[in-house]
Amino acid sequence: MNQYLGLEFFNRYTVGDTPEELISAADKFTEMMCWYECAIKEIRTKLEVLNEEFQANKSRNPIESIKSRIKSPMSIYEKMERRGYEITLDSIMESLHDIAGVRVICPFIDDIYSVAEMLTKQDDITVLERKDYIKNPKPNGYRSLHLVLEVPIFLSTGKRKMKVEVQIRTIAMDFWASLEHQIHYKKFKEDKVEIVEQLAECATVIYETDIKMQDIHKELFAVKDFRKEYSFRENEIQKVGK
Ligand code: GTP
Ligand code: MG
Repeated sequence: MNQYLGLEFFNRYTVGDTPEELISAADKFTEMMCWYECAIKEIRTKLEVLNEEFQANKSRNPIESIKSRIKSPMSIYEKMERRGYEITLDSIMESLHDIAGVRVICPFIDDIYSVAEMLTKQDDITVLERKDYIKNPKPNGYRSLHLVLEVPIFLSTGKRKMKVEVQIRTIAMDFWASLEHQIHYKKFKEDKVEIVEQLAECATVIYETDIKMQDIHKELFAVKDFRKEYSFRENEIQKVGK
């Protein structure tokens, strides 16, 4: 394992390695992490382009915000060990699909599916996995659309296909997931069951609210389009009248 993992493991796992081996291992690990960073850039750019085009054509953004993160070397190591995989760079790249993670936050549920479709139909993207936790929420109430994509990055040595996990959810779903995530870091005692139940209830309320907000938005948009057309005609009439 020593010759494959990078700097963060030096202190814990490097007994017996020569400095040259350690530096070479760290360089290889850093290079792999750089590929994942590049893959995130590719996906982010694709999303930003789609958002701008949507803004130009439809005067609104289907994407509220984009967050991204790279899994830390220690989390990579722990996940590999937990799953009993051999810890080499090839094995890490083969086994883990969430080293590069992109989270897309959308205003409305329909936007989630539009963004997913616009992204996945691009001819350089391969969908390796799709989990719809909106249509099939987790028992705790978790909702999101998860995609594992393969995207090419172009290096001096040629093309390399990289895996990126993309989570797409509404602002409300993200708010819920952030709070729910914290439950894992807190030491709850007897009140844990109650909190889990309360969170599940909130997830349902949030989903219903997402649907209502979307319906209201659709109604408003119909009115807005009409007004746009109306004011355009009024302008035309005024110009003709002058
Ligand atoms: P792991 O990546 O090992 O978790 O397995 P998996 O790929 O089968 O998991 P899944 O696609 O279901 O979830 C991957 C990621 O989605 C997690 O790392 C979290 O970021 C997020 N996620 C999944 N389930 C939950 C949940 O119940 N609550 C919250 N807050 N986030 C979740
Ligand atoms: Mg995962």
